[in-house]
Amino acid sequence: MTAALFQPITLDGLDFPNRIAVAPMCQYSADDGSASDWHLYHWMNLAMSGAGMVTVEMTDVERRGRITHGCLGLYSDDNEAAARRTLDAARRVAAPGTKFGTQLAHAGRKASNRKPWDGGGPLRPDEDPWQTVSASAIAYDTGWNVPHPLEEDEILQLIERFADAARRAERAGFDFIELHAAHGYLIFQFLSPLSNQRADRWGGSIENRMRLVVEIAKAVKKAAPRLMLGARLSVKDWVDGGFDVADAIEVAKALRDVGVAYLCCSSGGNSPLQKLPSGPGYQVHLAEEVRKGAGIPTRAVGLIDNPKQAEAIVAEGRADIVAVARAFLADPRWGWRAAATLGEPIQPAPQLARAVTTMEHWIKAAG
Ligand SMILES: Cc1cc2nc3c(=O)[nH]c(=O)nc-3n(C[C@H](O)[C@H](O)[C@H](O)COP(=O)(O)O)c2cc1C
Repeated sequence: MTAALFQPITLDGLDFPNRIAVAPMCQYSADDGSASDWHLYHWMNLAMSGAGMVTVEMTDVERRGRITHGCLGLYSDDNEAAARRTLDAARRVAAPGTKFGTQLAHAGRKASNRKPWDGGGPLRPDEDPWQTVSASAIAYDTGWNVPHPLEEDEILQLIERFADAARRAERAGFDFIELHAAHGYLIFQFLSPLSNQRADRWGGSIENRMRLVVEIAKAVKKAAPRLMLGARLSVKDWVDGGFDVADAIEVAKALRDVGVAYLCCSSGGNSPLQKLPSGPGYQVHLAEEVRKGAGIPTRAVGLIDNPKQAEAIVAEGRADIVAVARAFLADPRWGWRAAATLGEPIQPAPQLARAVTTMEHWIKAAG
Protein backbone atom coordinates (compact mmCIF):
# COMPACT_ATOMS: atom_id res chain seq x y z
CA MET A 1 0.00 0.00 0.00
CA THR A 2 1.28 3.46 -0.88
CA ALA A 3 2.45 5.44 2.15
CA ALA A 4 0.15 8.34 3.08
CA LEU A 5 2.98 10.80 2.40
CA PHE A 6 3.17 9.52 -1.19
CA GLN A 7 -0.54 9.63 -2.00
CA PRO A 8 -1.27 12.28 -4.63
CA ILE A 9 -3.50 15.21 -3.70
CA THR A 10 -5.50 17.65 -5.81
CA LEU A 11 -6.05 21.21 -4.57
CA ASP A 12 -8.48 23.31 -6.59
CA GLY A 13 -7.76 21.23 -9.70
CA LEU A 14 -3.97 21.24 -9.29
CA ASP A 15 -2.49 17.74 -8.92
CA PHE A 16 0.47 17.15 -6.59
CA PRO A 17 2.27 13.80 -6.83
CA ASN A 18 2.86 13.53 -3.07
CA ARG A 19 2.29 15.33 0.25
CA ILE A 20 5.82 16.67 0.68
CA ALA A 21 6.32 20.44 0.34
CA VAL A 22 9.43 22.55 0.39
CA ALA A 23 8.53 25.40 2.76
CA PRO A 24 9.28 28.94 1.57
CA MET A 25 12.76 30.12 2.54
CA CYS A 26 14.16 33.62 1.95
CA GLN A 27 17.58 33.51 0.32
CA TYR A 28 18.37 37.26 0.58
CA SER A 29 20.21 36.92 -2.74
CA ALA A 30 18.07 38.89 -5.20
CA ASP A 31 19.12 41.95 -7.17
CA ASP A 32 16.44 44.67 -6.70
CA GLY A 33 13.88 41.85 -6.37
CA SER A 34 15.15 39.80 -9.34
CA ALA A 35 16.19 36.15 -8.99
CA SER A 36 19.97 35.67 -9.31
CA ASP A 37 22.31 32.79 -10.16
CA TRP A 38 21.87 31.65 -6.56
CA HIS A 39 18.15 31.20 -7.19
CA LEU A 40 18.91 29.31 -10.41
CA TYR A 41 21.00 26.81 -8.44
CA HIS A 42 18.54 26.71 -5.53
CA TRP A 43 15.31 26.23 -7.52
CA MET A 44 16.90 23.65 -9.84
CA ASN A 45 18.17 21.77 -6.82
CA LEU A 46 14.75 21.79 -5.11
CA ALA A 47 13.12 20.69 -8.37
CA MET A 48 15.00 17.39 -7.96
CA SER A 49 14.34 17.07 -4.22
CA GLY A 50 11.43 14.65 -4.46
CA ALA A 51 8.98 17.22 -3.01
CA GLY A 52 5.78 17.48 -5.04
CA MET A 53 5.21 21.07 -3.92
CA VAL A 54 8.05 23.58 -4.11
CA THR A 55 7.12 26.89 -2.49
CA VAL A 56 9.57 29.56 -3.48
CA GLU A 57 10.58 32.14 -0.88
CA MET A 58 8.65 35.19 0.32
CA THR A 59 8.30 37.39 -2.78
CA ASP A 60 7.37 41.00 -2.19
CA VAL A 61 4.70 42.87 -4.09
CA GLU A 62 6.47 46.22 -3.87
CA ARG A 63 10.01 47.43 -3.24
CA ARG A 64 9.28 48.81 0.23
CA GLY A 65 7.71 45.45 1.15
CA ARG A 66 11.09 43.70 1.12
CA ILE A 67 12.62 42.64 4.43
CA THR A 68 16.13 43.38 3.09
CA HIS A 69 17.82 44.80 0.01
CA GLY A 70 18.32 41.17 -1.09
CA CYS A 71 14.71 39.98 -0.94
CA LEU A 72 12.90 38.61 -3.96
CA GLY A 73 10.06 40.61 -5.54
CA LEU A 74 7.50 40.56 -8.34
CA TYR A 75 7.06 44.32 -8.71
CA SER A 76 8.91 45.02 -11.99
CA ASP A 77 9.25 43.68 -15.52
CA ASP A 78 12.83 42.68 -14.68
CA ASN A 79 11.63 40.68 -11.65
CA GLU A 80 9.07 38.90 -13.82
CA ALA A 81 11.57 38.07 -16.59
CA ALA A 82 14.11 36.73 -14.05
CA ALA A 83 11.45 34.60 -12.34
CA ARG A 84 10.33 33.15 -15.69
CA ARG A 85 13.91 32.33 -16.72
CA THR A 86 14.69 30.69 -13.38
CA LEU A 87 11.46 28.74 -13.25
CA ASP A 88 11.87 27.49 -16.84
CA ALA A 89 15.29 26.11 -15.93
CA ALA A 90 13.95 24.43 -12.77
CA ARG A 91 11.11 22.83 -14.72
CA ARG A 92 13.52 21.35 -17.25
CA VAL A 93 15.13 19.20 -14.54
CA ALA A 94 12.14 18.71 -12.20
CA ALA A 95 10.87 15.30 -11.10
CA PRO A 96 7.59 14.41 -12.86
CA GLY A 97 4.58 16.32 -11.53
CA THR A 98 6.53 18.79 -9.35
CA LYS A 99 4.56 22.03 -8.87
CA PHE A 100 6.05 25.44 -8.15
CA GLY A 101 4.48 28.27 -6.19
CA THR A 102 5.43 31.78 -5.19
CA GLN A 103 4.75 33.18 -1.73
CA LEU A 104 3.41 36.72 -2.23
CA ALA A 105 4.14 39.01 0.67
CA HIS A 106 4.84 42.42 2.15
CA ALA A 107 7.05 42.81 5.20
CA GLY A 108 5.31 45.97 6.49
CA ARG A 109 6.93 47.15 9.74
CA LYS A 110 9.52 44.33 9.55
CA ALA A 111 10.93 45.73 6.27
CA SER A 112 14.11 47.81 5.87
CA ASN A 113 16.27 45.27 7.71
CA ARG A 114 19.81 43.99 7.26
CA LYS A 115 20.33 40.49 5.88
CA PRO A 116 20.68 37.89 8.66
CA TRP A 117 24.35 37.34 7.85
CA ASP A 118 24.90 41.12 8.17
CA GLY A 119 23.45 40.95 11.68
CA GLY A 120 19.73 41.51 10.96
CA GLY A 121 17.76 44.31 12.63
CA PRO A 122 16.80 47.69 11.14
CA LEU A 123 19.07 49.22 8.47
CA ARG A 124 21.19 52.12 9.74
CA PRO A 125 20.97 55.61 8.14
CA ASP A 126 24.03 54.90 5.94
CA GLU A 127 22.59 51.58 4.68
CA ASP A 128 19.84 53.02 2.45
CA PRO A 129 16.88 52.39 4.80
CA TRP A 130 13.29 53.26 3.89
CA GLN A 131 10.07 54.24 5.63
CA THR A 132 8.12 51.17 6.69
CA VAL A 133 4.32 50.85 6.73
CA SER A 134 1.83 48.91 8.84
CA ALA A 135 -1.69 48.83 10.23
CA SER A 136 -0.82 51.14 13.14
CA ALA A 137 2.16 53.28 14.15
CA ILE A 138 3.57 50.60 16.46
CA ALA A 139 7.19 49.50 16.08
CA TYR A 140 7.99 45.76 16.16
CA ASP A 141 10.44 46.26 19.04
CA THR A 142 12.43 48.99 20.77
CA GLY A 143 14.99 50.43 18.38
CA TRP A 144 12.91 49.44 15.34
CA ASN A 145 11.34 51.94 12.93
CA VAL A 146 7.90 53.32 13.73
CA PRO A 147 5.84 52.44 10.66
CA HIS A 148 3.55 54.79 8.78
CA PRO A 149 -0.04 53.58 9.33
CA LEU A 150 -1.60 52.97 5.91
CA GLU A 151 -4.48 55.28 4.92
CA GLU A 152 -7.62 53.90 3.27
CA ASP A 153 -6.44 54.77 -0.27
CA GLU A 154 -3.01 53.26 0.43
CA ILE A 155 -4.65 50.02 1.58
CA LEU A 156 -6.61 49.85 -1.66
CA GLN A 157 -3.36 50.43 -3.60
CA LEU A 158 -1.68 47.67 -1.59
CA ILE A 159 -4.43 45.21 -2.59
CA GLU A 160 -3.82 46.24 -6.20
CA ARG A 161 -0.07 45.57 -5.76
CA PHE A 162 -0.88 41.99 -4.71
CA ALA A 163 -3.11 41.63 -7.80
CA ASP A 164 -0.33 43.02 -10.06
CA ALA A 165 2.18 40.56 -8.58
CA ALA A 166 -0.31 37.72 -9.05
CA ARG A 167 -0.61 38.59 -12.75
CA ARG A 168 3.18 38.56 -12.99
CA ALA A 169 3.28 35.18 -11.19
CA GLU A 170 0.86 33.71 -13.71
CA ARG A 171 2.82 35.09 -16.67
CA ALA A 172 6.10 33.83 -15.17
CA GLY A 173 4.62 30.31 -15.14
CA PHE A 174 4.01 29.48 -11.48
CA ASP A 175 1.41 26.80 -10.71
CA PHE A 176 0.16 28.32 -7.48
CA ILE A 177 0.34 31.35 -5.22
CA GLU A 178 0.66 31.27 -1.44
CA LEU A 179 -0.32 34.45 0.44
CA HIS A 180 2.04 35.14 3.32
CA ALA A 181 -0.26 35.92 6.24
CA ALA A 182 2.18 34.68 8.86
CA HIS A 183 5.29 35.52 10.89
CA GLY A 184 4.36 39.11 11.72
CA TYR A 185 4.58 40.49 8.19
CA LEU A 186 2.11 43.06 6.89
CA ILE A 187 -0.99 40.90 6.39
CA PHE A 188 -0.52 39.43 9.85
CA GLN A 189 0.12 42.90 11.29
CA PHE A 190 -3.48 43.64 10.29
CA LEU A 191 -4.76 40.33 11.69
CA SER A 192 -3.23 40.62 15.16
CA PRO A 193 -4.70 42.94 17.80
CA LEU A 194 -1.14 43.45 19.08
CA SER A 195 -0.13 45.34 15.93
CA ASN A 196 -3.53 46.54 14.65
CA GLN A 197 -5.17 49.17 16.81
CA ARG A 198 -7.15 50.88 14.07
CA ALA A 199 -10.64 52.23 14.70
CA ASP A 200 -11.81 52.06 11.04
CA ARG A 201 -13.17 49.16 8.96
CA TRP A 202 -9.67 47.55 8.87
CA GLY A 203 -9.32 47.20 12.67
CA GLY A 204 -11.14 46.23 15.85
CA SER A 205 -13.26 43.07 15.41
CA ILE A 206 -11.82 39.94 13.80
CA GLU A 207 -14.13 40.60 10.82
CA ASN A 208 -12.42 43.97 10.35
CA ARG A 209 -8.87 42.73 11.01
CA MET A 210 -9.27 39.93 8.46
CA ARG A 211 -10.75 42.27 5.83
CA LEU A 212 -7.31 42.91 4.30
CA VAL A 213 -6.38 39.25 3.80
CA VAL A 214 -9.84 38.41 2.45
CA GLU A 215 -9.79 41.35 0.01
CA ILE A 216 -6.27 40.42 -1.11
CA ALA A 217 -7.33 36.79 -1.65
CA LYS A 218 -10.31 37.91 -3.74
CA ALA A 219 -8.17 40.31 -5.79
CA VAL A 220 -5.46 37.69 -6.37
CA LYS A 221 -8.01 35.04 -7.43
CA LYS A 222 -9.46 37.48 -9.93
CA ALA A 223 -6.05 38.59 -11.23
CA ALA A 224 -4.63 35.05 -11.64
CA PRO A 225 -7.65 32.77 -12.16
CA ARG A 226 -5.58 29.89 -13.55
CA LEU A 227 -3.41 29.59 -10.43
CA MET A 228 -4.37 27.64 -7.34
CA LEU A 229 -4.34 29.92 -4.29
CA GLY A 230 -3.25 28.92 -0.80
CA ALA A 231 -2.14 30.88 2.24
CA ARG A 232 0.21 30.62 5.19
CA LEU A 233 -1.11 31.87 8.51
CA SER A 234 0.38 32.35 11.95
CA VAL A 235 -2.32 30.53 13.90
CA LYS A 236 -1.12 32.01 17.22
CA ASP A 237 0.87 35.02 18.42
CA TRP A 238 1.97 33.05 21.53
CA VAL A 239 1.36 36.26 23.52
CA ASP A 240 -1.53 36.80 25.97
CA GLY A 241 -4.23 38.90 24.30
CA GLY A 242 -2.81 38.18 20.84
CA PHE A 243 -4.19 36.42 17.77
CA ASP A 244 -5.16 32.83 18.63
CA VAL A 245 -6.62 29.58 17.30
CA ALA A 246 -10.29 30.72 17.45
CA ASP A 247 -9.40 33.78 15.32
CA ALA A 248 -7.43 31.58 12.94
CA ILE A 249 -10.43 29.30 12.42
CA GLU A 250 -12.57 32.33 11.52
CA VAL A 251 -9.93 33.52 9.06
CA ALA A 252 -9.59 30.01 7.60
CA LYS A 253 -13.36 29.77 7.00
CA ALA A 254 -13.44 33.19 5.32
CA LEU A 255 -10.47 32.31 3.11
CA ARG A 256 -11.96 28.91 2.26
CA ASP A 257 -15.17 30.70 1.19
CA VAL A 258 -13.30 32.92 -1.28
CA GLY A 259 -11.49 29.95 -2.85
CA VAL A 260 -8.28 29.51 -0.85
CA ALA A 261 -7.44 25.83 -1.31
CA TYR A 262 -5.08 25.15 1.63
CA LEU A 263 -3.76 26.82 4.73
CA CYS A 264 -0.19 26.31 5.92
CA CYS A 265 -0.35 26.54 9.71
CA SER A 266 2.64 28.28 11.24
CA SER A 267 2.80 30.60 14.24
CA GLY A 268 4.48 33.56 15.91
CA GLY A 269 6.77 36.21 14.49
CA ASN A 270 4.78 39.31 15.43
CA SER A 271 6.14 40.06 18.88
CA PRO A 272 9.51 39.80 20.61
CA LEU A 273 7.50 38.82 23.73
CA GLN A 274 6.22 35.56 22.21
CA LYS A 275 6.63 32.36 24.23
CA LEU A 276 6.92 29.82 21.45
CA PRO A 277 7.38 26.23 22.66
CA SER A 278 9.74 24.91 19.98
CA GLY A 279 10.28 21.14 19.64
CA PRO A 280 9.62 18.32 17.15
CA GLY A 281 6.35 18.99 15.28
CA TYR A 282 5.53 21.90 17.62
CA GLN A 283 2.91 23.38 15.28
CA VAL A 284 1.22 20.19 14.04
CA HIS A 285 -1.63 20.54 16.55
CA LEU A 286 -2.39 23.95 15.01
CA ALA A 287 -2.79 22.43 11.53
CA GLU A 288 -5.02 19.77 13.07
CA GLU A 289 -7.25 22.27 14.91
CA VAL A 290 -7.67 24.51 11.86
CA ARG A 291 -8.35 21.51 9.60
CA LYS A 292 -11.08 20.26 11.94
CA GLY A 293 -12.46 23.71 12.82
CA ALA A 294 -12.65 25.18 9.33
CA GLY A 295 -12.83 22.15 7.03
CA ILE A 296 -9.93 23.35 4.88
CA PRO A 297 -6.93 21.24 3.80
CA THR A 298 -3.91 22.17 5.92
CA ARG A 299 -0.15 21.95 5.60
CA ALA A 300 1.80 21.30 8.79
CA VAL A 301 5.25 22.83 9.31
CA GLY A 302 7.90 23.25 11.97
CA LEU A 303 10.61 20.79 12.99
CA ILE A 304 9.26 17.96 10.88
CA ASP A 305 12.48 16.44 9.61
CA ASN A 306 11.97 12.73 10.06
CA PRO A 307 10.12 10.87 7.27
CA LYS A 308 8.30 8.56 9.71
CA GLN A 309 7.12 11.57 11.70
CA ALA A 310 5.88 13.20 8.45
CA GLU A 311 4.14 9.97 7.40
CA ALA A 312 2.32 9.74 10.76
CA ILE A 313 1.05 13.33 10.50
CA VAL A 314 -0.62 12.65 7.15
CA ALA A 315 -1.68 9.05 7.92
CA GLU A 316 -3.40 10.15 11.16
CA GLY A 317 -5.28 12.91 9.32
CA ARG A 318 -3.68 15.70 11.33
CA ALA A 319 -2.72 17.59 8.15
CA ASP A 320 -2.99 16.99 4.40
CA ILE A 321 0.54 18.04 3.47
CA VAL A 322 3.79 18.38 5.37
CA ALA A 323 6.18 21.27 4.69
CA VAL A 324 9.87 20.93 5.43
CA ALA A 325 12.29 23.88 5.43
CA ARG A 326 15.74 23.53 7.01
CA ALA A 327 15.99 19.80 6.35
CA PHE A 328 15.80 20.56 2.60
CA LEU A 329 18.75 22.92 2.96
CA ALA A 330 20.71 20.25 4.83
CA ASP A 331 19.66 17.46 2.46
CA PRO A 332 18.27 18.65 -0.90
CA ARG A 333 17.23 15.03 -1.63
CA TRP A 334 15.07 14.81 1.53
CA GLY A 335 12.17 13.62 -0.64
CA TRP A 336 14.31 10.67 -1.74
CA ARG A 337 15.16 10.01 1.89
CA ALA A 338 11.43 9.91 2.71
CA ALA A 339 10.75 7.55 -0.20
CA ALA A 340 13.57 5.17 0.76
CA THR A 341 12.48 5.19 4.42
CA LEU A 342 8.85 4.43 3.56
CA GLY A 343 9.61 1.84 0.85
CA GLU A 344 8.41 4.02 -2.03
CA PRO A 345 10.13 4.34 -5.43
CA ILE A 346 12.53 7.24 -6.04
CA GLN A 347 12.20 9.07 -9.35
CA PRO A 348 15.65 10.50 -10.08
CA ALA A 349 16.81 12.48 -13.09
CA PRO A 350 18.76 9.91 -15.19
CA GLN A 351 22.03 11.69 -14.40
CA LEU A 352 21.41 11.01 -10.68
CA ALA A 353 20.07 7.47 -11.00
CA ARG A 354 23.18 5.75 -9.66
CA ALA A 355 22.77 7.63 -6.37
CA VAL A 356 19.49 5.86 -5.59
CA THR A 357 21.17 2.74 -4.20
CA THR A 358 23.43 4.99 -2.11
CA MET A 359 20.41 6.62 -0.49
CA GLU A 360 18.79 3.21 0.08
CA HIS A 361 22.03 1.94 1.60
CA TRP A 362 22.23 4.94 3.98
CA ILE A 363 18.63 4.41 5.14
CA LYS A 364 19.21 0.67 5.72
CA ALA A 365 22.45 1.34 7.60
CA ALA A 366 20.75 3.93 9.83
CA GLY A 367 18.10 1.30 10.73
C1 LIG B 1 16.52 30.33 5.79
C2 LIG B 1 15.05 30.41 6.12
C3 LIG B 1 14.25 31.31 5.43
C4 LIG B 1 12.88 31.36 5.67
N1 LIG B 1 12.09 32.18 4.88
C5 LIG B 1 10.74 32.09 4.97
C6 LIG B 1 9.91 32.71 4.01
O1 LIG B 1 10.37 33.29 3.03
N2 LIG B 1 8.57 32.60 4.18
C7 LIG B 1 8.01 31.91 5.23
O2 LIG B 1 6.79 31.85 5.34
N3 LIG B 1 8.79 31.27 6.12
C8 LIG B 1 10.12 31.31 5.99
N4 LIG B 1 10.91 30.57 6.83
C9 LIG B 1 10.27 29.66 7.80
C10 LIG B 1 10.16 28.24 7.19
O3 LIG B 1 9.34 28.24 6.03
C11 LIG B 1 9.59 27.25 8.22
O4 LIG B 1 8.29 27.64 8.56
C12 LIG B 1 10.45 27.15 9.48
O5 LIG B 1 11.83 27.12 9.17
C13 LIG B 1 10.11 25.90 10.29
O6 LIG B 1 10.27 24.74 9.50
P1 LIG B 1 11.58 23.76 9.64
O7 LIG B 1 11.64 23.36 11.09
O8 LIG B 1 11.28 22.62 8.72
O9 LIG B 1 12.78 24.56 9.24
C14 LIG B 1 12.29 30.53 6.65
C15 LIG B 1 13.11 29.66 7.36
C16 LIG B 1 14.47 29.59 7.10
C17 LIG B 1 15.31 28.57 7.85
